[in-house]
Amino acid sequence: MDKFVIRGGNPLLGTVRVSGAKNAALPAMAASILTEEPVILENIPDVRDIQTTRKLLEAMGGEVELGYGRAHHRTTLCMKNLVSPEASYDLVKTMRASTLVLGPLVARSGRARVSLPGGCAIGARPIDLHIKGLEQLGAKIAVEHGYVEASAERLQGGEVVFDRITVTGTEDLMMAAALADGETLMQNCAREPEVADLAALLNKMGARIEGAGTPTIRIKGVSRLKGAKHRIIPDRIEAGTFIVAGALTGGDLIIAGCEPRHLTFIKKLEEVGVKVKHDVDSVRVMGDGPLKGCDMVTEEFPGFPTDMQAQFMALATQAEGSSIITENIFENRFMHAGELVRMGANIKIEGRRAIVRGKTPLSAAAVLASDLRASASLVLAGLVADGETIIDRVYHIDRGYERIEEKLRAVGARMKRIGEMLPKRPALVGS
Ligand code: EPZ
Repeated sequence: MDKFVIRGGNPLLGTVRVSGAKNAALPAMAASILTEEPVILENIPDVRDIQTTRKLLEAMGGEVELGYGRAHHRTTLCMKNLVSPEASYDLVKTMRASTLVLGPLVARSGRARVSLPGGCAIGARPIDLHIKGLEQLGAKIAVEHGYVEASAERLQGGEVVFDRITVTGTEDLMMAAALADGETLMQNCAREPEVADLAALLNKMGARIEGAGTPTIRIKGVSRLKGAKHRIIPDRIEAGTFIVAGALTGGDLIIAGCEPRHLTFIKKLEEVGVKVKHDVDSVRVMGDGPLKGCDMVTEEFPGFPTDMQAQFMALATQAEGSSIITENIFENRFMHAGELVRMGANIKIEGRRAIVRGKTPLSAAAVLASDLRASASLVLAGLVADGETIIDRVYHIDRGYERIEEKLRAVGARMKRIGEMLPKRPALVGS
C-alpha cells in the first residue's frame, strides 16, 4: 500500500491549482443515467472515486470515456444501453456515494437494485431518507439481503420534506423527480454548492428545477431528458485544505481556479488569524501572523463544513490557546485526533467535542489514515512536524485529492509517495 513520506518545515510558496469537485462530479456522473444521450462533463477530478463510478456505470451497460492528454479532465458518458439497473455490494462498499444511482435508475428504468452501503469510518450513515423520499414519489421499496429493491412504473410528483438535511439525499431525489409525472416540492433541502451545480446540469438536460441552493426546491417533471455538456465546479474542500497548508507552514500561497463564494469557512479561519485575500477565481493565503485558538461547530452549508473539520483540527494544534471543535454532522469523525496526538498534539475527545490545546510543536511519526479528510489533516501536520512523517493507507486520500503530493511538492513541500506509484494516464497523442 502506498505511503507518503513528508519532511516538515518548508513554507509553501507559489500557486497551486484546485481540481474539479469530487462531490459535484459523482452526482453529475449518476445523472447520465437519466438520458439515452451522451453527457459530457468537464473539470472532472482524476481521483479514485471517479474510477469507481465509471466501473459502476459500465457494470450497468454504460459507456464511460475518461479523457486523456489535453482532454484529461473531460468525461463522456452514455447510458443508452442500460441493461442492468444494479449497483453491486462490491462497488458500493468501496464508495457510499454509489447510492446516488438509486433515484436515477428508478426514474429511468422503473426499477433498481442497489446495495445498502453499510457502516463507514465516520458514522452509521443510513440512507433511510433517500428511501423515504422515493416512497413519497410512489416507488415500491423492499430491503432484502443487503439490497434496496425499488420499482415504479413511473414516479409521481409529490411533496418531500427531509427529516434532516442530507446532501446526497437531496441530489438523489432531485434526479428522481426530474423524470416524475407532475410537480415535486422538496423542503429542508441541502444548500451545498454541489446541489446547485447538479441542478444546473439537469436543467441543461431539459429538467425544470427551481430553487436549488435554497432549502426549498421545486421540480416540474418531464417525460424525457437529453444529453448536455457541463463544467463541474471547483473543489471547495481541496481549496480549504490548501489554505490551511499555506497558513500552517507560514507560506505565501495562491490557490487558483477556486470559487471564493463557496469558501464560506474562510471567516472562521480568519478568526484563528489566517490572512486571506480574495480574487475573482483565486485566493491568496499569507501565513505570517500568530494563530490563536478558536471554537468551531460543524454545520450544513453555509456553515463550517464537516469535510474541513479535520484540517481545522490540525490548524488548531498550532494556535495559541484552546479550541473546542464540535462535530454535529457525523457521530464518529475524530479518528485523526489519535494520530495527531501521536505527533505531539494535545487533544481530548468528549463525545462530539474535541478540545485542542495549543500551540504544541509536532514531531514526525508513523501515522495511519482512516478516511479521506482525516488523511488530509495528517498531511497538514506532516508539513509542520519536526522530522519525517510516514502516512500509511494513503489510498484514502487518493479517493478525493488529485495527486496531492505532486501539487504540494510544486510549491515547496518535501513530500513523496512510496509504494507502487499511481498509474499515470498515457498521454495519447492528439486526444
Ligand atoms: C455528503 O455525504 C458528502 N459526500 C460528504 O463528503 C459530506 O461529509 C456530507 O455530505 C456532509 O456535508 C458526497 O457528496 C459524495 P449527508 P452524504 O446525507 O450525502 C444522516 C467527503 O469527505 N443521514 O448530508 O452521505 C447522515 O448519517 C465526504 O468528501 C441519515 O440519517 O451526507 C449524517 O449524519 C464524506 N439518513 C447526516 O445525515 C439519510 O438517509 C448528513 O449526511 C441520509 C443522511
